[in-house]
Parts: sequence; C-alpha cells; structure tokens
Amino acid sequence: MTLQQWEEALGSLGSAGSAGLLGPIGGTTRPAAEPLPGYFASSYDLPADRERISARYQRITRAHVERFGDAGIVAARAPGRINLIGEHTDYNGLPVFPMAINRDIAALFSPRADHRIVIQNTNSAFPERGFEITASIPPFKTGDWGNYCKAGVQGILGHFAESGKGAEGLRGFQATIGGDIPAAAGMSSSSALVVLSALMFLSANGSELNKTAAGKLELAELLARAEWYVGTQGGGMDQAISLMGRPGQALKIDFYPLEVRPVPLPAGYRVVVSNSLVQAAKTADALDKYNRRPIECRLAVAVLKRALAARYRRELPLTLLGDLSEEVLGVPQGEIDALADATLHEQAYTLAELAGILETSPEETSRRYCTRRDGTVFPEPEDGFKLRQRFRHVVEEGRRVERSVEALEAGDIDRFGGLMNDSHASCRDLYEISCPELDALVAISREAGAVGARLTGAGFGGCAISLVAEEGVEAFVQKVGEAYYGGYLKRGDRDFASLIFPCIAVAGAGTLAD
Ligand code: GLA
Repeated sequence: MTLQQWEEALGSLGSAGSAGLLGPIGGTTRPAAEPLPGYFASSYDLPADRERISARYQRITRAHVERFGDAGIVAARAPGRINLIGEHTDYNGLPVFPMAINRDIAALFSPRADHRIVIQNTNSAFPERGFEITASIPPFKTGDWGNYCKAGVQGILGHFAESGKGAEGLRGFQATIGGDIPAAAGMSSSSALVVLSALMFLSANGSELNKTAAGKLELAELLARAEWYVGTQGGGMDQAISLMGRPGQALKIDFYPLEVRPVPLPAGYRVVVSNSLVQAAKTADALDKYNRRPIECRLAVAVLKRALAARYRRELPLTLLGDLSEEVLGVPQGEIDALADATLHEQAYTLAELAGILETSPEETSRRYCTRRDGTVFPEPEDGFKLRQRFRHVVEEGRRVERSVEALEAGDIDRFGGLMNDSHASCRDLYEISCPELDALVAISREAGAVGARLTGAGFGGCAISLVAEEGVEAFVQKVGEAYYGGYLKRGDRDFASLIFPCIAVAGAGTLAD
C-alpha cells in the first residue's frame, strides 16, 4: 500500500463528513472520500472510538515514516480480549468463552530485504528492539517486551520449515506499533503482540496461512505453544480469540482439537470492563503464581489416573482434567465423579505424600510435574498442593461454560449473570486467583446493578467484567468509578474513562487488506 492509500483509509476515520482529523503526514490532509474500509468498521466501536483510534494511527504513521520511510507499508492490528466465563479451563482441555474487544495493538510495517526484524513502539516505555531471524532465536532477558515479538516469529518458523523454508530464506520486517490494551490488566496485550508479530512475519514472506478458517485454527494452535517461549504455561484461549474474534459475538472455544462456535452477545446489554489497577504482569512472581495452577492440575490428573487404574484394573486415557468424562474414558460419568470425589482429599498435599501415592521419590515427582520451562524446579508451595480445590474449580467451571452458552442462546440473561457470579466465587475460593481489590470491585459492580460480575483472565489482579443493561451503563460507570476508584482505592481523579468502559466484540487480527 502506498502512503497515499493508507492516508485515504485513515482519513475516513476522521469525524463523519469532515476533512478528517489527521493533519498532513506525508502530504496534505485528504477528504474522507472513501467509505470506511469494512475491516476497520468491524474492529472498532464507531463512532465512539473514532477520535481515539484516528489519533493513534496518526502517531503510528508519523513515527513509522520518520524511522523507516514510506515504502511498501501494510497496516495490521490484533485485538485484546475479555473472557466472559471459563477461567483456567483451557490448558485443562475444557472450553472458554471469550470475545475480542475494541482495544488492540495496531501496526504499520514493511518487509525488509534482509533477515532482520526491527520493531519500535510509539509508547516510549518500550524501547525499540531488533533481532536476526535464526532457527532458534535467543530470548531477550526475562520480562522484556521484545520477547513477545520473538515468540510470534519463532512460532512461525516451524510452519515455514514444514514447507521447506529455513530461517535463512525468510525476510524480516520493520514495524511501528501502538496499542491501547492496558498492560498487565488481564486483557491479553501480550498475546495480541505475539499474534500481531506472527501476522507481520507471515505477510512479509507471502504466506496466506491466516486467510482461511482452517489456516486460522492451525495458526492459533501454533501460537498458543509459541507463547510458552516467554515462560508461561498458558492454554490456547488468548491467541485463538485474538485471531478469530467476530463482530458482535463471543466464541465458545474448545481445545484438543481446537474448535470455535460463535454465540451472539445478548441484545440490550453491554459488557463493561473495569481495571482493578492491581498489576498482573506475567513476570517473575506472577509467572510462578500462574504456573502453580497447571502444575497442581497435572498432579491431580496423576493421582486420579492411579485411582482409576486401580478401580478398573487397566490404564484409562486420562491426560488432562478435561478428560474426566464418560465420552473420553468410556466408563460411567457417575462412577468417575464418585471416584474423583472419594480420591482427592480436602487437605493440601505435601510433596512427600504425593511421591508416596505415585510410588516414586519426591525428587522424581518434582522433576516430572513441577519443572518450569527453563528447567528449574518449582518449589513445594508453603500451603501445599491444593489438588481437590483446583480439580473442583476446573471441572465445575467447564460445566458453567456449557450452561452459559445454553443460557445466552435461550435469552436467559439472569441465569448467565448468576453463572458469572458463581465463577467469580470459584476463582476466589477454589482456584485462589482473585485478590481483595478484585473482590471489592466485583461486589461494588453488583451493587451498582450488574446482572453478573467476575474477574476475567489469569487473575491475581487485572480486570473485572460486568454485564449491564444498556440503558444503565452510564450510571453504572459513574457509580462504580466513584465507589471503587474514589471510595475504595482513595484515588483523587474523577475521570474514569480509561479505567472503566463498555466494550464491544470485534473482528480478530488481520491486515487492512483482509
Ligand atoms: C491467561 C492464559 C490463558 C488462560 C487464562 C485463564 O490469560 O494465557 O491461556 O489460561 O490465563 O483463563
């Protein structure tokens, strides 16, 4: 795309009928002659987002042209997400129910002739990063934002290798990005950057992988694993929704194999996001808090697998908590549930006890189940491994997702709201991923009229979501803003717009040409 074509596309984002909000970038401001490109129209809440995104794209364009020139530019974006219900179920093979939201990371990029990737960010908190494409890309230091870009690129290398293209034959790109997904707030800004980097790399090398429904599924699976590069042992929700989001719809996503089912959001209601302002950065401490849960789930599976083998005198195909079904195991559901209930005790397990059950040494138990991706061993938690509590949350939360989809399809909003509330209680009490601030925010949101409210995402801070009747949204935002940011957190500011806002479901990641 030429700079002129891009400016024309951008000009149409200016306020309706005017000459556009953009000042001259490379030439003069052009009138909004073209209708808004369809992909843009389905990516933002127009006209509410118009000025904000217009200004952001303008900043990105200026910075890009200044640093890299205006040859062969392509625009791309990848959205953040909120998860309506189904927390920490994905890596256990149970469904989630997220939607892509009108907060994203946008980019202008151009392919390079060499093998280098250079990426600058309009937010100066994230300094420019550059690296060479090699078969195995060494990471920057832990916590560096550039690692999310490396993760996306490294993940795609495997795909290219399958079609005989090695790292040495692939072109790099140069990009300028700018985002408005609050960082460390549980809205998947990191996965959006992984997805965006992968799309830019694919496009720079002429791949059409993301252009078909089957290709998107393949890409989503690839990128879920790719993000492990940064050290989290997450599931596949965030990458899948950022790639496959649909305007006006949430997606019920199943895993192994990955499948998506669009479900329309209820008419007359809005999903309101509110930021607890407790940072949930997935580095160091939070990384361990997050990774403890998949470890506990793996241990619960190991203990249950033994109990099932003893009961049925043969090995049953149990690899994830999500396999605890009649369909997968081929034994009656009632028996599975009763056996799990009788096997996992309330009291937390010590490493020594687990080693005894698994008939091995504590060292071997740690090595098999508690190793971090960098090879170091996750220490035994002071309060023990809470297998029964984690198991109950995961299995019940998976069922809540199914019921939520049924409730929404039947138009039963109150039932859905109740399930959201139950999910929050389970995240707080059984999975222990909430915090006092999130609990306060959720309670305030319900008092202010939410049909349902819960934390969303990995937890340990970040955001809550509330389902609110459309006509009450303005009053809701004001009430929660005053009670939480003013009353509870004792912050002086009165402008809550960037902290609490209604969002819409938008299209997944792509380039402007998509
Ligand atoms: C993070 C992970 C996801 C998912 C959620 C919790 O966002 O990246 O895969 O596990 O936490 O539901």
